[in-house]
Amino acid sequence: MNLPHKIIIGNWKLNDTIAEGTVLLQKIHQELKGFSAATIVVCPPATHLYPLHRELKSFKSDPKIELGAQNISDYEAGAHTGEVSAIMVRDLAKYSIIGHSERRTHYGETDDQITRKVAIALEHGLQPILCVGENLAQRHDGKAHQVVLDQLNTDLSDVTADEIKKIIIAYEPVWAIGTGTFAKPGEIEDMLRLIRNALVQRFGRLASTESRIVYGGSVDGENAKAIMQLQGCDGVLVGGASLKPKEFAAIVHAGQK
Ligand code: PGA
Repeated sequence: MNLPHKIIIGNWKLNDTIAEGTVLLQKIHQELKGFSAATIVVCPPATHLYPLHRELKSFKSDPKIELGAQNISDYEAGAHTGEVSAIMVRDLAKYSIIGHSERRTHYGETDDQITRKVAIALEHGLQPILCVGENLAQRHDGKAHQVVLDQLNTDLSDVTADEIKKIIIAYEPVWAIGTGTFAKPGEIEDMLRLIRNALVQRFGRLASTESRIVYGGSVDGENAKAIMQLQGCDGVLVGGASLKPKEFAAIVHAGQK
């Protein structure tokens, strides 16, 4: 089942000062003025959440843009220097990306930590955008399905049938992120189907049809429409192109039925 509105998520990663991020948000809003046919989420660096939250309140017209964090701690509070917790973020953002491949690869984040992050996010009212996906070697070895299923199995192990509706799963093949090489339509549909079937098996049909499954990896203004027309694709997670207001707006428009 494809849900009525696509969700377009911008992941700004480690880019822009607060002043630059504010201008970027203003420009995105301006480019999309009056548009209401998509769920739009931007995930800026943690330092930007408070000023951007205030900025969004000052916008009087559509589009409604929502905020997401790029990461949260797997702890709620305590002696964890440098971390930002779900409790700190929840008043400013509605979502949090969890388990992005850059965190898994560069910061050694494990599926056990990701399991805890998903549980903590849900407990404190944040909707997880859970990233899963195989790397190139795993795909070449024919292990892509197993890798994604293993990630889902562990990362969702504490999730209930009621909670799964709040989770957005982002299929992001690691080899497609920031490379300009996006997955082929058949590869994307195949994975989206695999993920949907895994959710249905585990949480039941009703619970699982309401959670959204999106694709991420080198999405841009050119390929976004074709990707979002694929069977089972509820939206996209966009990195590089989300920093360019016109292109991000084009991606949002591309999701319109
Ligand atoms: P990209 O990044 O669009 O720049 O490939 C996607 C992501 O990392 O979420």
